[in-house]
Order: sequence, then C-alpha cells, then structure tokens
Amino acid sequence: MAEIPSLSLRGASLADHSPMPEYIAEHFERSADADPSDPDRYIGLAIAENKLVWDLLEPKLTSDRNVDQRTVGYDAMVGSERFRASIAAFGSEHLWGRAVHADEIITLAGAGSILETIFYVIGDPGDGVLIPTPSYAGFWMDIETRDAMRVVPAHMSPDEGFVIDVDVLARTYDETDIPIKALLLTNPSNPTGRIHTPDEMRGAVSWARSQGLHIIVNEIYGLSAHGSVPFIPTGSLVDVDDDIHFVWAFSKDLAMSGLRCGVLATSNEGLRTAIAGLAYWAVVSGDTQHLLGAMLDDRAWALDYLTGMRARLAEASRTATDALDRAGIPIVPGDAGLFRLLDVRAFLSEPSWDAEQTFWRTILHDANVNLTPGAACHVGEPGFMRLCFAEEPPDVVQIAIERIAGVLEP
Ligand SMILES: Cc1ncc(COP(=O)(O)O)c(C=O)c1O
Repeated sequence: MAEIPSLSLRGASLADHSPMPEYIAEHFERSADADPSDPDRYIGLAIAENKLVWDLLEPKLTSDRNVDQRTVGYDAMVGSERFRASIAAFGSEHLWGRAVHADEIITLAGAGSILETIFYVIGDPGDGVLIPTPSYAGFWMDIETRDAMRVVPAHMSPDEGFVIDVDVLARTYDETDIPIKALLLTNPSNPTGRIHTPDEMRGAVSWARSQGLHIIVNEIYGLSAHGSVPFIPTGSLVDVDDDIHFVWAFSKDLAMSGLRCGVLATSNEGLRTAIAGLAYWAVVSGDTQHLLGAMLDDRAWALDYLTGMRARLAEASRTATDALDRAGIPIVPGDAGLFRLLDVRAFLSEPSWDAEQTFWRTILHDANVNLTPGAACHVGEPGFMRLCFAEEPPDVVQIAIERIAGVLEP
C-alpha cells in the first residue's frame, strides 16, 4: 500500500498537541459514564454553563418554529439583516447601555469564533494580546492556536481582590518583547464573577488608548449579574470609537452555548469588513438565527426570562456560598456569572503549581468532583479553583461541596 500522505506542519502540530485542557477531557470522559441514580456519581463543576433555566427556555424553543424559506438559504455570512436588527434593538436596550445600529453588529458561531477572528485581523503571528488575569482559560486557544499570536498575561493580585491595576498592565506591557496589539478585558470577570468598577474599566481603557491598542471588551456575562453590585456596560462609561470592540454571545446569559452564536458590536468598518471576509467559515445557521431573533423580539418573554434567570443564579450562588462557608473554604467576592473562585491556598501542601495540580486531582479522584484549576485560569499564584455553581442544581452543588469538605478534613 502507498504511504499515507503526511499532514501539514500546522496539522501535525494540532495532531500532536490537542489544545483541549485536561480538566475538560476528564469532564467529557466522566460525564459520559455517570449514572444519575448513583449517589456517588461524578459531579462536573468545571464548565461555565447555565443548566438552571431549561424550563424557562424549553417552551419558547419548542413553540417558535414558524420557519420561512429565507432561513434555509444563503444569507449574509455575518448574520441576516433581520437577525442583526433584533440583536441591535435588544442589546441597545438591555446590554450595551447605548444605541448600537444593526450595521455595527456581526454574528459568528460563538464568542470564541468572534474573538479568534478579531485577533486574526488585528494581529500577525507573533503579535501579542495583553490580558489581565485571572482570566477565561479558552483565550489561550482562541489566540494562540490558529492565529499564532501570543497571550501576554498581566497578573492581578489576589490580595487586592484581583482588581485591574493599570500599573500592572503598564509594567507588563513595558517588560515584554512581544509587540502588543490589543488589550482584552472581560467584565464581569470569568473566573471570579467580579464586576469591575467603572474606575477600573475607565482606567484600563484610557491606558490602552494612550498606547494605541485595540480594546476588546468581553461582556459575555453582562446580563448575569445576580448580586448587589450592578453591571455597568463599558460603552456607557467611555467614548466609543473605532478602537473599542464589544463581544457578547447567547452562550451564557441566554444559556444556549450549544447553539453557537457570538456577537460583535463595533463601529470600526475596516475591522468589520475584514471579519466579513472570514465569516463564511463560522456562520450561525439560518435556523438558529431565526430562532434566537424571535426570542429577543418577544421582549416580554425575554424580560421574564432574564428576571427568572437572575433569580435562579442568585439562589444557586447563595446555596454554594453558604456550603463553602460551612466547609471553611474562602471565596473571592463576585456578583455575576456562573461561578465562584475558591481560595484553597491554605489547603495546598506547599505553594506550588504541582501542589495545586495534586489538589485538583485529589478532589477529582476522592470526591468525584471536577473543578477548574486556577492554573488554567492563569491566576498569578497557585491555590485557586473555579467552581461553576450553575452547571448542576443547587442541591447537587451542595453535595459536591460537602464531598470536597470531606476530602479536606484532616
Ligand atoms: C469570558 C468568555 N469568553 C468567551 C467564551 C466562549 O464562549 P462561546 O461558547 O460563545 O464561544 C467563554 C466561555 O466560557 C467565556 O467564559
């Protein structure tokens, strides 16, 4: 038989090093085998998904099926005009804190696709993106895989509550040899759920402007504020010009991560045109656009959903926080999102990344609970774990925390 043709260098590199982190691989493997009737079953709390609102979504998802022929044919690859108008109207009222026109909107298959494509068109291989940490683990895949750019992390201090410190941004920027093209800010934060203050956001944006950087503001958890601190959209705090780009998705606030729909809002026409040149490879299906557009257009339903969704998150967060408190595990303060960041520094055998990995593995093996290790979130020091409290009902999360507490007992 003839020799099998080889892969390209790019293909071979992907085949050799899967970009999927270990905690996600463990999740898919263990959840496939989990028996729901087994009291000791695997409990996955490592993936940021909101599974608490299916009953709010299901009636709407199953009733709105009056599909017309336009939805099954080719349309604008960045999203149909009708869909982008629905998003612009909804987002202007509820998310961005200012009026955004449908022409400024682009949709692609998930926030990940939006980010990957933005960076592709604003940076070249080897260029850098500055990211305050702790941060969402997936940015490394989005930026370093196909774009071949580099993440430059600016580690914020746990002892200052992970506040975005402009001096740390500036120092990191000055000390790196990597040419930085953009600053990526996520508000509310993943993994802390912290809502950055208006001063933090204004300070970071104004510093990035002084360096001539693109600014990407990821507000994917913007509608999931469920505590006492309100979310204030960055677009209502700073001048919105062609250097600042806003990212959102239906994955978190609307709890439909599997439908794959991310949203970009930017006034930068050149950026939008460049992204449109790549949109064909990451289009949101016409049927999904139709469904999601109809959900947003039914404003009474959408508002009821948002109210119900936030109440569920508030309750789930409270149950998790109380259980963590009883277990004596400190948490980083947060008022939004689907997770809490646990400070487990006191439980490590020593302050090292190896000890953190051992801690994560012990919880996985002995408690059969999966958390997101702080290393994956690029926390500046070892000893933090993200717990996604919306991935399972509150009583199950409470059981998971009790199991963890059992493992931590001396
Ligand atoms: C901050 C942040 N950005 C982007 C994403 C990716 O979202 P999507 O599933 O829409 O690609 C996530 C998912 O966890 C996230 O937390």
